[in-house]
Amino acid sequence: MTFSISVSGKDIAFPCEPNETVLDAAQRAGYELPYSCRKGVCGTCKGRIVSGEVRAYAGDALSATEKTERNFLYCQTRPRSDLEIAPKMIEKADPFARKKLAARVFRMKQLTDDVMLVHLRYPAGERVRFKAGQYVRILWPDGRTRDFSMANPPRESDGIQLHVRLVQDGPFTKHVFETMKVGDTLDVDVPHGTFALRESDKPILLVAGGTGFAPMQSIVEDMADKGIQRDVTLYWGSRQVSGLYSDLPRKWAAQNPRFRYIPVISDAVEPGMRHGFVHQAVLEDHPSLAEFQAYVCGVPALCRAARKDFRAAGLPVREFFIDTFTTQADIEAARPK
Ligand code: FES
Repeated sequence: MTFSISVSGKDIAFPCEPNETVLDAAQRAGYELPYSCRKGVCGTCKGRIVSGEVRAYAGDALSATEKTERNFLYCQTRPRSDLEIAPKMIEKADPFARKKLAARVFRMKQLTDDVMLVHLRYPAGERVRFKAGQYVRILWPDGRTRDFSMANPPRESDGIQLHVRLVQDGPFTKHVFETMKVGDTLDVDVPHGTFALRESDKPILLVAGGTGFAPMQSIVEDMADKGIQRDVTLYWGSRQVSGLYSDLPRKWAAQNPRFRYIPVISDAVEPGMRHGFVHQAVLEDHPSLAEFQAYVCGVPALCRAARKDFRAAGLPVREFFIDTFTTQADIEAARPK
């Protein structure tokens, strides 16, 4: 039996199969809801179910209050009846945007012991429209997928720049570091995700952990391309100074008086750099976040801490955007026991 999902206060409804998630059904019908990991880890897809019965798993991504207010993770929620939902945002997807292509590796450069810069090129003549901050899904021949933020700005639409961090026991990243070479091809499904700059006059906080710098690079370069004039502060955190693998933030700061760069190191004290956790450096500088818009990208622990602490500092929920890296271990940890 197919159920119907309607959207509160909008003239939008779409069908959903009993084994289909609300997020998948919305996308199949041509709508975009906020999402990032699709695995029940990041909490980006959460929204209310106003009426109807569901099968759902929430794990730690929802607070006890959110659960009692009938918030669910749409990527982990399947209908048992017709539903009325109240998402934070829903918009018509660009039907021509997403493509599956065989991309060729045309440049690789190891930036640190555990970060590889990888440039992929689409087949001749192919271009893919995307928003700065979105990610690419790498499709493995065995059916597994790996998601990576794109570091290139949308103007560079003939390929993809990836910042790949070596993950212990991560088969794809081991492949990148040990066997992948220039000329190889990778099947990609692109673009994905709703992590992208929102229009506003508010000052922007970009908070990146490690290779969470990749989507920030895309966003900052896209703002420059489009002449968007807003105050931007990039907080880039790493355990060691070697993990801050790009000189671009210093160049941007030298070129643009409205751009500030705050490097933050957690496991060492470095001259000229802040010490501690990256999201705490933000809070030390800005005890009240009521007037900001914040974008956070990194491991689940960073995203969870920023969500909780930034909200406590007054950041409006609608001004907070996260892109969470998820490894297989994170997904296992988020699964119902
Ligand atoms: S997209 Fe649903 S929890 Fe991440």
